[in-house]
Amino acid sequence: GLNIGPLLKSTGQVTYDPGFMNTANAKSAITYIDGDEGVLRYRGYPIDQLAQNSSFLEVAYLLIYGELPTGDQLGAWDEEIRRHTMLHEDLKGFFSGFPRDAHPMPVLSSAVSALSTFYPDSLDPFDEEQVHISTIRLMAKLPVIASYAFKKSIGQPMLYPDNSLNLTENFLRQCFGVPAEPYELDPDMVKALDLLLILHADHEQNCSTSTVRLVGSSHANMFASVSAGINALYGPLHGGANEAVLNMLRSIKSDGVKPEDFMDKVKNKEAGVKLMGFGHRVYKNYDPRAKIVKKTAHDILGKLGGNDELLDIAMRLEEKALADDYFIERKLYPNVDFYTGLIYKAMGFPEKMFTPLFALGRLPGWIAQWRELIEDPATKIGRPRQVYTGHDLRDYPVR
Ligand code: ACO
Repeated sequence: GLNIGPLLKSTGQVTYDPGFMNTANAKSAITYIDGDEGVLRYRGYPIDQLAQNSSFLEVAYLLIYGELPTGDQLGAWDEEIRRHTMLHEDLKGFFSGFPRDAHPMPVLSSAVSALSTFYPDSLDPFDEEQVHISTIRLMAKLPVIASYAFKKSIGQPMLYPDNSLNLTENFLRQCFGVPAEPYELDPDMVKALDLLLILHADHEQNCSTSTVRLVGSSHANMFASVSAGINALYGPLHGGANEAVLNMLRSIKSDGVKPEDFMDKVKNKEAGVKLMGFGHRVYKNYDPRAKIVKKTAHDILGKLGGNDELLDIAMRLEEKALADDYFIERKLYPNVDFYTGLIYKAMGFPEKMFTPLFALGRLPGWIAQWRELIEDPATKIGRPRQVYTGHDLRDYPVR
């Protein structure tokens, strides 16, 4: 009963590929993944080398401009971002329109969408200077927007950015500092957050990045395209997984469920229960980011005194899963978000902030991919076809 006639007529062939399991939507020179081997590289550099030696700002530059910056270039990039952290006062007022317990993700996407109204001077996707300034504005302002969404959700006053600090430091201060009191940065926390941002910075054509590209393919501006990406990231099967993992660990703990009994529920697919933070469309091996995050979780929880009991539950679930035929046959391994929530929690972030933190990390990837799309002369508007399964022609019943 599938009606593919019109497609065959226009193109001679049709590909029905739900979830785009086998469809490449782009040629891209940004990120390389080998899912079978568990390999991830940004612009050719292995993720573990970047995690060990680089900084989030440097990685963002690498993703967006294609090469590692020289010392001077990195300094200028950092400086320019620091000069654009201020949000327009009217945009600040925007936050009071949301309910107090608003989830920060829709607040984030709404505020980023609203940037198009505040900065009409930087919306032309084909003007190099405008694309540059939009890049800087987004990099500088998204952390500030995220901190405002956070402060609003806990009923505390928002802090103005402190441009003597870099992006990661200032974000922590804007989240955890209070007005008129000095905020002492914890170097372990700055390092751990910077590392997590690096690990999330790009992941080729994932759901949110593909969304950014699809929206951008209509020549929508960078703010509009990134705002759509944030909404895609909100879903529990994508960026929302980090929040879902912690909720899962918590409920296992509070209900006193044994990890093995929980695993049975997952395997029996009881009410769609999944082991959140496990499985990946591309990795059929250990996610290389998860390896780094697991180690960081141990280090940072040791230093900051996080919830060891939840970490124990996570480790027992992982141990059970890696030895279980259900997971082995399906090649399900921990993904990047299996341990990130525990680290964010230890830093003092509530669950609702976990996915916004993912968005901060993914921003350079979205920007780089949007720019690559716009610069590629082969780009066409994204417009998939369908396989029609509805009624054949029928006449309207004139009564
Ligand atoms: N727990 C239990 N079973 C799982 C899990 C899981 N986490 N993930 C996949 N499976 C099972 C599926 O039920 C399916 O089983 P079946 O063959 O018996 O039907 C099989 O493994 C294949 O899974 P699909 O859902 O077909 O794989 P897909 O590539 O479509 O989905 C996804 C990938 C969405 C990540 C999935 O593994 C999942 O839902 N994981 C949990 C959510 C999560 O952690 N998301 C974060 C992804 S990474 C990121 O965004 C950073």
